[in-house]
Amino acid sequence: MKRNMKKIITLSLLSMGIFHASAQALDPVYEMTVNTSQVGSPIQSTMYGIFFEDINFGADGGLYAELIKNRSFEFDNPFGGWTPFGDVTIQTKNPCFDKNPHYARLTNRKLITGTGLDNEGFRGIGVKEGEKYNFSLYARTVTNAPITIRVDLVNETNDIFETKKLEVNGKTWKKYQIVLTPQKTVDKARLRITMETEGAMDVEHISLFPEKTFNNRPNGMRADLAQALKDLKPGVFRFPGGCIVEGTTIETRYQWKNTIGPVENRPININRWNYTFPHKKFSDYYQSYGLGFFEYFQLSEDLGAEPLPVLNCGLSCQFENDDMCQHIPLDKLQPYIDDALDLIEFANGPATSKWGKIRAEMGHPAPFNMKFLAIGNEQWGPIYPERLELFVKAIRAKYPEIQIIGSSGPGSEGEDFDYLWPEMKRLDVDLVDEHFYRSPEWFLRGAKRYDSYDRNGPKVFAGEYACHAPNRENSFLTALCEAAFMTGFERNADVVHLCTYAPLFAHVDAWQWRPDLIWFDNHTLVKTANYYVQQLYGHHAGTNVLPLSMQNEPVTGQNDLYATAALDKNTNEVIIKVANTGIQNKKIRLNINGLSAGKHTGKQIQLHSTDLEAKNTFSNPDTVVPVETSIETEGPELNATLNPLSFTIYRIQL
Ligand code: AHR
Repeated sequence: MKRNMKKIITLSLLSMGIFHASAQALDPVYEMTVNTSQVGSPIQSTMYGIFFEDINFGADGGLYAELIKNRSFEFDNPFGGWTPFGDVTIQTKNPCFDKNPHYARLTNRKLITGTGLDNEGFRGIGVKEGEKYNFSLYARTVTNAPITIRVDLVNETNDIFETKKLEVNGKTWKKYQIVLTPQKTVDKARLRITMETEGAMDVEHISLFPEKTFNNRPNGMRADLAQALKDLKPGVFRFPGGCIVEGTTIETRYQWKNTIGPVENRPININRWNYTFPHKKFSDYYQSYGLGFFEYFQLSEDLGAEPLPVLNCGLSCQFENDDMCQHIPLDKLQPYIDDALDLIEFANGPATSKWGKIRAEMGHPAPFNMKFLAIGNEQWGPIYPERLELFVKAIRAKYPEIQIIGSSGPGSEGEDFDYLWPEMKRLDVDLVDEHFYRSPEWFLRGAKRYDSYDRNGPKVFAGEYACHAPNRENSFLTALCEAAFMTGFERNADVVHLCTYAPLFAHVDAWQWRPDLIWFDNHTLVKTANYYVQQLYGHHAGTNVLPLSMQNEPVTGQNDLYATAALDKNTNEVIIKVANTGIQNKKIRLNINGLSAGKHTGKQIQLHSTDLEAKNTFSNPDTVVPVETSIETEGPELNATLNPLSFTIYRIQL
């Protein structure tokens, strides 16, 4: 199998005519020149970012730390995720929350059998020994006397391993809270509530939340997953999708105004990845919006990344809807445009403004200082620019400082792409979002993609990309091709301002799409080789492009080599990135103009495997990880031998 994969990459290089005979010569030395005095275009601090979408249980059941599924009984099947026992019914009269009107009524007549509810979590509830979990619910009694309930954590064999009691008293809705501290680590626990007193009571918004969240935020993020994002050093954070922005129908589109304010009263929405793939249906996949726009902005701040929201442009998913019936006519578009203007006020307006006030009430009086706004996801045809134009006019008139991002459609080239790019130029958007989920061959060829882009048009936001091997798995092959491809982002940093891999997260037991950057279960995560490529670019971005050439040409696949150079003005280092996609060692000589004679120290960071199919797994998470070593060189040269199938970064102090 390993041999097959090698064959694929070698054959692909051959078929592209870029496998040079010189690669077979005896120990050739590939000479590259870097000129440190020709300081080129700035590399945007936003260049390497992340794109988050609630796909693969990325939000509910993933990054959003809530452990209870369907906490408000609002799924189409209100008992989805719950196993009721005894006498339990769903009610809607006099609800606690008007936008989430369903609640459960529990009636306990016989003390022996008991009545209650059991929640399965998101493919189980992961809890850790000694950690604190905040349990809360809203409740009221229906009968007169106070009611005692027992709250248990049970394991897969139904043994209770943590239990606490609380008393519900009074016929008005109140919030009740206790802390559970399990003395065991369990991967797939369940939460069980049992009435211990006879009587009837109503319960709503039942929540179990780890006390420890990323940056200790209430209603926050799972600490390990958010930390993995921070460790990428992302410059920009795109949210909330993806296709979920569009919705399968216009009603199921993402509406940011539904995702702010008290978490209990955010109306849930079906997640379109619930039913997108007939072979992978997830009837229990909904968006609770516990992770909503306030939390996204706050997370951007916590990650040190610029927030980049994407809004619906009045079109629902065009893959799902051929005709216009699911799209908003131009004369009815104003509420959508208002949503965009209001969002800018929510993010950036003073705390005294209508929407800024809501942000302040949610705990963030200072503006979020949002700079980017994307309108539309993967749209195509004239119906898109004619809508976008109205947004652009309104946003430019009121908020000329906002950088507007338009879309070039779902394809990386072709008719729709060729139609949309000139349209984006005509509309004078600031950036154009490009998406490409393509083969290893495409990625290697694509290292040159941006060399010929118009330097005067809108900038590029490579908003979704991932190398897809035929088996659609994460692997070192795909990571290496992405690393090679990304040399073209950096070399063309005057054109490419932002890039974000997609998708970001996948739950091992509940994924719809692969490959993905980070895989997780209820307790742990696996950083893929693809993750490490993103991390290497993020951490070694540099501040300015430096010209790098081999025989006076940029290095874009000659002899299976891909290279780029940058200066880091902050540290006065030259940073050289080289991918060797060939299966032989390569000797390289880097002539670094501007590197004085004498000894220079630096480091080499390398991602390498001899196996193109190598992957990081839960049992072997460190199969492909970057290895850092100190190096020393005699200026102005750096001589090195590149491992076959490797991506190497050199940082040399000037
Ligand atoms: O990343 C998965 C999906 O791919 C996104 O939702 C969509 O924009 C693209 O088609």
